[in-house]
Amino acid sequence: KILILDFGSQYTQLIARRVRELGVYCEIHRPDLPAEDIRRFAPRGIILSGGPASVETEGSPRCDPFVFSSGLPVLGICYGLQLISKLLGGRVDRSAHREYGSAEVEVLAARGPLAGFKLGDRVKVLMSHGDRVDMLPPDFEAIGRSGNSPYAAAAHQSKPIYGLQFHPEVVHTPMGKEMLRAFLFTDCKVSGSWTMKGFIQEAEDAIRRQVGEHGRVICGLSGGVDSSVAALLLHRALGARLQCIFVDNGLLRQGEREQVEALFVDRFHVPLKTVDARARFLSELAGVTDPEKKRKIIGREFITVFEAAARDVQGAEFLAQGTLYPDVIESVSYKGPSVTIKSHHNVGGLPEKMNLKLVEPLRELFKDEVRALGRELGLPDEMVSRQPFPGPGLAIRVLGEITEARLELVRRADAIVQQEIRDAGLYKELWQAFAVLLPVQSVGVMGDERTYESTCVLRAVTSVDGMTADWARLPYDVLERISTRITNEVRGINRVVYDVSSKPPATIEWE
Ligand code: XMP
Repeated sequence: KILILDFGSQYTQLIARRVRELGVYCEIHRPDLPAEDIRRFAPRGIILSGGPASVETEGSPRCDPFVFSSGLPVLGICYGLQLISKLLGGRVDRSAHREYGSAEVEVLAARGPLAGFKLGDRVKVLMSHGDRVDMLPPDFEAIGRSGNSPYAAAAHQSKPIYGLQFHPEVVHTPMGKEMLRAFLFTDCKVSGSWTMKGFIQEAEDAIRRQVGEHGRVICGLSGGVDSSVAALLLHRALGARLQCIFVDNGLLRQGEREQVEALFVDRFHVPLKTVDARARFLSELAGVTDPEKKRKIIGREFITVFEAAARDVQGAEFLAQGTLYPDVIESVSYKGPSVTIKSHHNVGGLPEKMNLKLVEPLRELFKDEVRALGRELGLPDEMVSRQPFPGPGLAIRVLGEITEARLELVRRADAIVQQEIRDAGLYKELWQAFAVLLPVQSVGVMGDERTYESTCVLRAVTSVDGMTADWARLPYDVLERISTRITNEVRGINRVVYDVSSKPPATIEWE
């Protein structure tokens, strides 16, 4: 395995993904990880990430000197290279040579990360740095140079210590993966055999180690990908010592509860307790129209209901959560990215409140790895490639007051949207597609009769991460089918409109 020390670059996670794509397990840790922790981790090599700071600034992050005395192969990227220079006796220049964008690096020696090239090759790379190395430390030599950086790539003359001024982890450095491959397979001598199958075995062992021989674990199932995969993994490790809890809050989509039960109980025989809390949520939400108030009520009620259900599970000391790697890294990163969306509803605060210890079997995985794991565990593709569904569910898709009748309208309209989008083969192309019920009535005509009924919005967007989104250019015939079916089949809706706003300035959900 490989250790990545994170100096706060926006690309650190990308380094990890590239390394894992090459079949090599790696973890990202804080930049100043002490020598004893590095020894315990026992990596085959260390990668120092880039970062926003300047090595010349007081208090900028440093790594333990053990990194260089350990004899392990080291690859410094950007800030990592500058740190190598600074700590081993070279010089870094703070001014005048900023470089952002594409550049060409000429190969001066085919060694280390550049082992796969020939002398004189010109390689396209992405540069993104303020400072640059001005003088290499003793015993180092340049193995690549660019117009602006005489030391675009550097190496120790006899030890496997390398530095790259550019970013091999981004797609704008087309041969970057080959550079990482050369470093990993030749210098670090890793085998590249890390697979999902291997991960499952290790994860099961780790769960059993943490939970012990008799410990019991509670897991909240939401019907989403993360909690489903976490539950299946825990079930493999613990069998009947896992108890899943699914809260039916009455804000679910059509057939959702039945799907969860069919999958987990009938197919995988996972102990599952479904709590029917529909009436309770509905009565607490009665008369509430403010979106953030809705979210607060739903979050609060969820915790109350879940807690009561969990208390019935005798002897449970652990609570499972589907925390993913990006959430974990944020907390250790020197200056991690920050993500803020509408106030979210999850089980936050539960473990402390209930005095349960956390089990997070997915905390080392990226989202696409969780999907791959789900497939490996036998989850149907339909579940694994599910579009996101917000915790507060249909409550934030019924604008205005929430009543059972209005929920039913949006639920039925949504079911039509889901089906038509799938039938048109568009499901996987879209980030989300769904129906929203507006508190607006308008006049229509059906047969010879005047109607005065509700308006439904069709919302479909493409997006990479939900942070920004574009409205989907759905084919007219798909729009037409959805509209006709909703107005024909859902009594109470006589008009369907299509939302053509992107995010920003709109958001994906209407509340
Ligand atoms: P917005 O509407 O902020 O949504 O553009 C971005 C993504 O987040 C989802 N979303 C939520 N998810 N609880 C959740 O668990 C929420 O309260 C919530 N609000 C929005 C939304 O579906 C989209 O994928």
